[in-house]
Amino acid sequence: MTRRVAILISGGGSNMVKLAESMTGDHPARPVLVLSNDPAAGGLAKAASMGIPTASVDHRPFKGDRAAFETALQAVLAEAAPDIVCLAGFMRILTPDFVGRWQGRMLNIHPSLLPKYKGLHTHQRALEAGDAEHGCTVHEVTPALDDGPILGQARVPVLPGDTPETLADRVLVQEHRLYPAVLRRYAAGDRTRIDLG
Ligand code: GAR
Repeated sequence: MTRRVAILISGGGSNMVKLAESMTGDHPARPVLVLSNDPAAGGLAKAASMGIPTASVDHRPFKGDRAAFETALQAVLAEAAPDIVCLAGFMRILTPDFVGRWQGRMLNIHPSLLPKYKGLHTHQRALEAGDAEHGCTVHEVTPALDDGPILGQARVPVLPGDTPETLADRVLVQEHRLYPAVLRRYAAGDRTRIDLG
């Protein structure tokens, strides 16, 4: 049975594009919705050009009322009836109530080797710590931020002269390999961890 995938974004959506591109042929899933909290997110136009239904629920009018924002988000998501929800650069913190509705069906990509550097500014923090390697993680979403069972990681070296920007670029290349690889397995019911070098 083909699995239906909704992808949540906030920005350019490069991970979303890689996920969507991967879901062809014998892949067990197909994209059914790209949803953003920002109507101006660049990824929405990219998704539309790929023929994927898009929607946005602007978080700003809710003025910090997360529950009300999530009620609107949930209504749009539910209509698309996804089996799997992929957070791909979705930059809103979700409440335990919302996460609970999707737990076991929701993935996230985070730009660090979790459990290191939950939250923001991960590349800068890896540089400041003098880490020799850095990377990205795909994990199942649980109520605690950037927590939850790890489904895959990809590593990159930290090189002399790296800035947060150069490091982010090197990690993003790996994000684009890792997330599609994990989703393919996950959609087939395989939750064994992937490690990319
Ligand atoms: C990616 O690097 C992703 O790992 C990060 O945002 C970027 C989105 O890029 N996500 C987070 O920081 C989540 N806390 P994209 O829009 O080009 O996929």
